[in-house]
Amino acid sequence: MGDEIKVAELFAGVGGFRLGLEGYCDDSKGWKLPSAGPFRTIWANQWEPGSDKRQFAARCYESRFGKGSVINEDISAVLDEFDAGKRAIPDVDMVVGGFPCQDYSVARPLFQANGIEGKKGVLWWSIYRFLRIQLNGSSNNARWCMFENVDRLLKSPAKQRGRDFAIILSCLASLGYSVEWRVVNSAEYGFPQRRKRVYILAERCVQWNLEDRLLHGVMAHAFPMELPERVDYVEIPDDPYVTSQSFNLGGKLSPFSDAGVMVKNKVCTCKVSETYDGPRMTLGDVLVPEVEVPEEYFVPESQREKWEYLKGSKKERRTNKATGFEYNYSEGAMSFPDATDRPSRTILTGEGGRGASRFKHVVKCADGRLRRLVPDELDQLQCFPKGWTDTGMTDGQRAFCMGNALVVGIPHLIGLEVAKELSDQIVSS
Ligand SMILES: C[S@@+](CC[C@H](N)C(=O)[O-])C[C@H]1O[C@@H](n2cnc3c(N)ncnc32)[C@H](O)[C@@H]1O
Repeated sequence: MGDEIKVAELFAGVGGFRLGLEGYCDDSKGWKLPSAGPFRTIWANQWEPGSDKRQFAARCYESRFGKGSVINEDISAVLDEFDAGKRAIPDVDMVVGGFPCQDYSVARPLFQANGIEGKKGVLWWSIYRFLRIQLNGSSNNARWCMFENVDRLLKSPAKQRGRDFAIILSCLASLGYSVEWRVVNSAEYGFPQRRKRVYILAERCVQWNLEDRLLHGVMAHAFPMELPERVDYVEIPDDPYVTSQSFNLGGKLSPFSDAGVMVKNKVCTCKVSETYDGPRMTLGDVLVPEVEVPEEYFVPESQREKWEYLKGSKKERRTNKATGFEYNYSEGAMSFPDATDRPSRTILTGEGGRGASRFKHVVKCADGRLRRLVPDELDQLQCFPKGWTDTGMTDGQRAFCMGNALVVGIPHLIGLEVAKELSDQIVSS
């Protein structure tokens, strides 16, 4: 492995994992993000389904990390080319990636016996293929994996709670990995956005004690928590196909809680209360001076009522346009405008654009006017440097990239602990 940890970044977007692990310096812009350890990304892949025009994230990645730093093609085509002997893929020590999170919100029929439901969920199988390629090259490759996904992954699908995550675990177990996972709400660890995501860290050929790892592993050190009141145990079938067919059939709840460890198909899992006592950032901390906010970001008086309606609580009768079916619709009120003395809500991909929306953020200016957030603020809510996505794309595309990205500080904290554990092992060996 040498002195560095070579990383492959899949589904790289605008490089959140890379920034968190490697850090980034650009004195001309005043950007100084610390590295988490000896990580070096040597291969990255990013492709937004659609035409060339949709490749703005890959172009941003290249403009920040250099020409040729990312392969801008569909990952399955890249892997097909590898299988056909037409492309090389380098050996790496770590594979990282956030696989697209839209999949789990829209349930789709299952087409493959061991597939994950949801069209884009199939991308898990590209990760699996990538790992198998690495391990065929040498069993020393891909010692670690770090993945990010929506926390719903632990519970989906609705008709077989926890099955999708169990499939992922059984795939990783079949490749010789032990796994730690943790649902992290970034605001609970001081970051300026409430964003709840599951982080999965896998390591090959390690013999952890389940409970010891749960309380003293990388995740527990990166995200301090109280001693759990209760720990539950689950067994995962060896075969991902069997897992897919049989896991938790008839179970009303997923057996997976917010923290867990798997060693050789045996899982222990528990609920988590954080014990973080460091500094805390708020939405107000990332707001730019008002002079930097273009006029189009201010909510026109003529639109105010529409915004208030969408943000407000409602109970009304609605009709499905396609079927004519009538139903009762109700939802609670959102804070409007958003509080600036607290972390923001989660940024979604639709945050851009001037149209009124229930989910876009709106803040109140000193003169009482309301405005949406500008892309520089969205960059910073994800802990990217201010202006990171300012690489020639539209504001809507910048918002889309940030809605897809992650809070850079989270893989950074995990990376710090992985690097520390590695250096402790080197010292004691
Ligand atoms: C959840 S986002 C990950 C964002 C990333 N972690 C970041 O910091 O920006 C998933 C990414 O996978 C990309 N993607 C979707 N389908 C893909 C495919 N078939 N091949 C490669 N990338 C794909 C999407 O364009 C999106 O940027």
